[in-house]
Amino acid sequence: MGASLVPSPAFVGFYLFSFIALCLLPGLALSKDEGITRHYKFDIKLQNVTRLCHTKSIVTVNGQFPGPRIVAREGDRLLIKVVNHVSNNISIHWHGIRQLQNGWADGPAYITQCPIQTGQTYVYNYTIVGQRGTLWWHAHISWLRSTLYGPLVILPRRNASYPFDKPYKEVPIIFGVWFMHCHLEVHTSWGLKMAWIVLNGKLPNQKVLPPPADLPKSYRQNKALQIKLQNVTRLCQTKSIVTVNGQFPGPRIIAREGDQLLIKVVNHVQNNITLHWHGVRQLRTGWADGPAYITQCPIQTGQSYVYNFTITGQRGTLFWHAHISWLRATLYGPIVILPKPHVPYPFPQPHKEVPIIFGVWFMHCHLEVHTSWGLKMAWVVMDGKLPKQKLLPPPSDLPKC
Ligand SMILES: *[C@@H]1O[C@H](CO)[C@@H](O)[C@H](O)[C@H]1NC(C)=O
Ligand SMILES: *[C@@H]1O[C@H](CO)[C@@H](O)[C@H](O)[C@H]1NC(C)=O
Ligand SMILES: *[C@@H]1O[C@H](CO)[C@@H](O)[C@H](O)[C@H]1NC(C)=O
Ligand SMILES: *[C@@H]1O[C@H](CO)[C@@H](O)[C@H](O)[C@H]1NC(C)=O
Ligand SMILES: *[C@@H]1O[C@H](CO)[C@@H](O)[C@H](O)[C@H]1NC(C)=O
Ligand SMILES: *[C@@H]1O[C@H](CO)[C@@H](O)[C@H](O)[C@H]1NC(C)=O
Ligand SMILES: *[C@@H]1O[C@H](CO)[C@@H](O)[C@H](O)[C@H]1NC(C)=O
Repeated sequence: MGASLVPSPAFVGFYLFSFIALCLLPGLALSKDEGITRHYKFDIKLQNVTRLCHTKSIVTVNGQFPGPRIVAREGDRLLIKVVNHVSNNISIHWHGIRQLQNGWADGPAYITQCPIQTGQTYVYNYTIVGQRGTLWWHAHISWLRSTLYGPLVILPRRNASYPFDKPYKEVPIIFGVWFMHCHLEVHTSWGLKMAWIVLNGKLPNQKVLPPPADLPKSYRQNKALQIKLQNVTRLCQTKSIVTVNGQFPGPRIIAREGDQLLIKVVNHVQNNITLHWHGVRQLRTGWADGPAYITQCPIQTGQSYVYNFTITGQRGTLFWHAHISWLRATLYGPIVILPKPHVPYPFPQPHKEVPIIFGVWFMHCHLEVHTSWGLKMAWVVMDGKLPKQKLLPPPSDLPKC
């Protein structure tokens, strides 16, 4: 995204700094073999849809859920006219499509375009270059992607072969989620999009253990991981952030496969806290897993809780992070699980091990809102020197704010 791409001065100065190195894509040559132009019309409208015995009025494309299939061949141009008949603002993203010199058709609201407002129309205009396979499209504004999505099938050029044996038949299968419970819709903004309900088995070792006595209820007591505020400076900016033991990133937890971990978390801040041990299998100990309001109530100000779990059948480097609201932005750190004593690594033993943690330091609060829409990283791409390395001018119907 170059500065020239920003449609309004309101968004100038909108940057995300991350610890991730920038790269430039090599210029991809346009093929001489021109494709055809395919026209689609997406009428965004409400539709009553019934799934799992439950009828809801949802925002759809052409009344379909999932939305219509787009089929094109590599080299084709797509002209997809989106007409917004609902009260929500809309933008559509063509997930995985390389928008060469053409960010205007990419779709993320307030990043490459302003949304298509009620009653407005916008034509997404792009050519598929150097890509084939099945991708998908979805809304790229607020949570509308939960019902606005569909497949985008790119067949090989007419006389080109598949990169595998030509299939007898092709049937796109779309996995979706039908929300029955509003509370879950809040959880999706915290990263939870799927729930498994696991019942107790018949044998004693197939049953969930009883909850620990200190499982947060509404109040309780005492320390080891101290959750506290700390002034931290990164990229010339100092902020007071929630940390573990004043460290950012948080402390490293090192264990061996088979070890039992007892991690006492003491909350000294005003926020409610839970910690999740990302990737650690919690065999029969969901109580130590951490997602707030799912496996536990949060550890409230002044309270403490001991996460008590055993590492079984796992080694490697995982990470832990807060699992409540956006506190994971600063509360995280590595969990290193070494093999059992005298057990070799599953690869040649390294000379030295250095966990490297990638993090994001938010400079601009507006960006924190974008994270709830799925955007966690931004690339700043400048125009190159040659004509094919420059962003094309915006189309005349590009929505205005
Ligand atoms: C959905 O159903 C409700 C209740 O039957 C009805 O009032 C509404 O007009 C329907 N909406 C659409 C878009 O068909
Ligand atoms: C689509 O984009 C191409 C390349 O910028 C342009 O030549 C063409 O006129 C556009 N078509 C429409 C219908 O906007
Ligand atoms: C595709 O192959 C057919 C038959 O082999 C040939 O007649 C046709 O000209 C080819 N088309 C292209 C675009 O190469
Ligand atoms: C952070 O810095 C501010 C301003 O210097 C100061 O008032 C505050 O006490 C500091 N907070 C901590 C946790 O050190
Ligand atoms: C903290 O959690 C308790 C228990 O769920 C809840 O009553 C309270 O409102 C929460 N406080 C904040 C600041 O979110
Ligand atoms: C940790 O959990 C194990 C297994 O449930 C239990 O035997 C042990 O007493 C717990 N330890 C603490 C300190 O809570
Ligand atoms: C729709 O987008 C416009 C332009 O950004 C904005 O002014 C308006 O508040 C948005 N409306 C809704 C309902 O979000």
